[in-house]
Amino acid sequence: MLTVARKAAELIKTHRNDSIQIISHMDADGVCAAAVISKALDRNNVEHHTKFVRMLYREVVEELEPTDLTIFTDLGSSQLQNVHNRFSGHDVIIADHHVPERVEGWRELVHFNAHQFGLDGAQEVSGAGMAYIIARELDQANRDLSGLAIVGALGDIQDAWGKLLGYNRQIAKDSIDSKVLEQKIDLMFYGRHTRPIFKALETFTDPPIPGVSNSAPGCVSLLKDLDIPFKSDGGWRRPIDLTDLEKRRLATELIARAYTAVPKELVQYVPGLIIGEAHTLLKEDERSMLRGADEFSTCINSTARHEQPLIGFEVAKGDRRTYYRAMLKLLRYHRRCIAEGMEFIEQSGLERGRRGYLQYFDATGEIKETFIGTIASLTLGHPACDPYKPMIGIIRKDGVAKISARCSKLLFLKGLDMARAIRDAARLVGGEGGGHAVACGAQVEENRIPEFLERFEYLIIEQLG
Ligand code: C5P
Ligand code: ZN
Repeated sequence: MLTVARKAAELIKTHRNDSIQIISHMDADGVCAAAVISKALDRNNVEHHTKFVRMLYREVVEELEPTDLTIFTDLGSSQLQNVHNRFSGHDVIIADHHVPERVEGWRELVHFNAHQFGLDGAQEVSGAGMAYIIARELDQANRDLSGLAIVGALGDIQDAWGKLLGYNRQIAKDSIDSKVLEQKIDLMFYGRHTRPIFKALETFTDPPIPGVSNSAPGCVSLLKDLDIPFKSDGGWRRPIDLTDLEKRRLATELIARAYTAVPKELVQYVPGLIIGEAHTLLKEDERSMLRGADEFSTCINSTARHEQPLIGFEVAKGDRRTYYRAMLKLLRYHRRCIAEGMEFIEQSGLERGRRGYLQYFDATGEIKETFIGTIASLTLGHPACDPYKPMIGIIRKDGVAKISARCSKLLFLKGLDMARAIRDAARLVGGEGGGHAVACGAQVEENRIPEFLERFEYLIIEQLG
């Protein structure tokens, strides 16, 4: 694997005075991947441009202009044919972890894809991870960029088992060795460094915890019952302020409560979702939203969702001034969009699939198409929803339906791979789809939505036995 990474690094060096562009995926992993390569190029004084796209559909690729060297990160492999049609005859590097298409005889291509080396690109290494390996071959001093590779992996939910797997562990080790990252077993709080404990507790929704999930008053009374102060002289205590003993008491109670609500066959997976590996970026400020690698990833993700990936990109590269402030502003807007989206769901309610194994909503005209995935995720944690069934959000536009699907990690741990189901269901109705096991999407013609839902539901039932 390192031989191919080295070849990519050599190709970059031979083009150091030429025109170079990075084309990357417009999501958290893609933004981190581009930031890793861009930082590495900056450090070598190599000029370059960066661009983000959602998919490399044929019409998108046709709009791209080849330069002396193009570096695709976190995409390219699964649409290799389209890329080949436009870029053959030009030097290209692809650093990706998506399942690759086969294309023969493209001599100028350095294809650096996880699957070629027996790695499971869904779980063991991200696009940012693949980019990082090339950056490390460019210069071992780039090992400090490994923190971004971890942020990218979390963006692609590669820690769904409560810990990093495969090559991601190797990257985390680089990161720990370079004093960029701390890895610790902890409660899987979201907002460990930034939120009051009861606010962080409230976000425990997968698995749903009675009296805790979505209930700030419930969390406050839980803390009182366990004799855990939620305030100190300095203000609200945050999850990282908890002592080990307090954490243990809390974990025991959360697991006990979750046991009472989770279906019997899923109970065994509960502790793994409540306790797991937490990743802290040690170079970030103590109370910053970038201190927790998971929160960092959410910040970057929101810039991509609102089609401002360059803001996330500059922040990932290290800006803590103009772009950082722009990101904070965007996050405030992001929260407003979430509130509006959830209000829509409250009012319109959810539909059920014919066999009762799916739940879905159509938010056409109400929610932006780039935002439907976020709302589908959050709806899954909403009390009105069945947390043990996949959730689908649909937006119709110009005769095409943009579909986002989300499911609980519990279903994934039980063996459900929604990415496979959605890809197959979409294909069967002439569309396309893919993504990750717990967060995926598809695009189908509007008039085929009912058929798609039926096929998808059937495939879900089949997988869950
Ligand atoms: O848009 P959303 O957040 O729902 O996308 C979730 C995942 O599904 C992303 O990784 C995205 O790349 C993938 N996806 C896909 N094909 C689509 C739509 C989404 O592979 N047509
Ligand atoms: Zn990725």
